[in-house]
Amino acid sequence: MPQQYFITTFGCQMNVHDSEVLAGLLGKMGYSQAASPEEADLILLNTCCVRENAENRLYGHIGNLKTLKERNPNLIIGVCGCMVQQPSEVAKIQETYKHVDLVFGTHNVHQLPELLDKIRTSQSRVFEVWDSEGEIHEGLPTKRDDPHKAWVTVMYGCNNYCSYCIVPYVRGRERSRRPAEIRQEIKELVESGVKEVTLLGQNVNSYGLDFPERDWNFAKLLQEIASGTGIPRIRFQTSHPKDLSDELIETMAASRQICRHLHLPVQAGSSRVLERMNRKYTKESYEALVAKIKARLPEIALTTDIIVGFPGETEADFEETLDLVRKIRYDGAFTFIYSPRIGTPAAAMPDQVPETVKKQRLEQLIAIQNQISLEKNREFIGTLTELLIEGPSEKNPVVWSGRNSQNKLVHFKPVAHIHPGDLVAARITNAQTFTLEAELLC
Ligand code: 5AD
Ligand code: SF4
Repeated sequence: MPQQYFITTFGCQMNVHDSEVLAGLLGKMGYSQAASPEEADLILLNTCCVRENAENRLYGHIGNLKTLKERNPNLIIGVCGCMVQQPSEVAKIQETYKHVDLVFGTHNVHQLPELLDKIRTSQSRVFEVWDSEGEIHEGLPTKRDDPHKAWVTVMYGCNNYCSYCIVPYVRGRERSRRPAEIRQEIKELVESGVKEVTLLGQNVNSYGLDFPERDWNFAKLLQEIASGTGIPRIRFQTSHPKDLSDELIETMAASRQICRHLHLPVQAGSSRVLERMNRKYTKESYEALVAKIKARLPEIALTTDIIVGFPGETEADFEETLDLVRKIRYDGAFTFIYSPRIGTPAAAMPDQVPETVKKQRLEQLIAIQNQISLEKNREFIGTLTELLIEGPSEKNPVVWSGRNSQNKLVHFKPVAHIHPGDLVAARITNAQTFTLEAELLC
């Protein structure tokens, strides 16, 4: 029997993609994917530490795996990802969670095969977390589950040090992949039937700034991918507003392959809070940027991230966030309660906002945004759109789903001759807060 693995991923798309690489490395070692943790010989938890509740959930999860280990002492349990880049968490796992055999970090994912060998030969626990980024490891095998949509990392790390955020400490300095490597990967994906790539980076807009020649930027990379790979659809995330250039807006306007969606985290609507967050833009400059984008790309869907209850956020500051949300009318927003992360400047700031106030602000924000999302979605009713067909919807397999250029999830009744991966014209017939309905025009 081949050995089987089971990977559970927490957190952002970066982690999802790292798990695809872990699965690829294991596949090359002869492992196959287990249907459940109970059937696995190796369980990996790929962790997130961006907010405290992600960490708490993770420890609950590790605790639950103890019974599996007791039943099967040969089971290897590994913990990797952002959380274990923090020495305090590694010490906690070492001392309290003795059934964990393997710990490795975000900078040494490529070492998984040798670390597993080390466990077998030494018959002991292996903890190996590199504290700084090495060179980029190209050509690692990747096992992607979706045959038509793929995540492609274009850069690693973040230099921005927003005062609330742990990411720069656990993902390291910004490192961009060479354009030739990215182009080659996407060309191969196209040959295998992929129709849409999402370019990933903590801040894709600073792509290439770390090259000594300074001969690339993100807009140029997009042009290169659009013209040099044949990929029908290109998405990207995340864009830091301070770095979004006019050249990028023009590049988007000039190419139909680049989807009409921008994820542009604002985080807060008060310039005073934005300054304390170290975001390096003001409410006014953000609004001006959005106005410029909407003027040049009228079909654009805008989504954002917002944190409520940042230290020192007053009721008046929060009202400014609500005003901004009403004014910009985002298609969708990911909303978060501020979570203090040890080691970040904001965690040591005075005037931490009480939990009850944070929760109440979050609810108020979500209610307003949901109403706007519904209204924005209703604007689509009667319009024509193009869907990338995903297949039967998870909740109701009689209905199929797909996404349009604006990244809206669209449900429709399938017709006989369509298949997952097809790009199909449709007319929007109905709208809810998070989904649209359509009839296919084929
Ligand atoms: N508390 C709450 N939300 C956070 N984010 C990042 N750090 C924190 C934190 N300490 C949010 C930001 C970011 C998103 C990925 O997570 O909104 O854009
Ligand atoms: Fe965190 Fe700011 Fe970097 Fe985004 S840009 S990963 S919020 S430090």
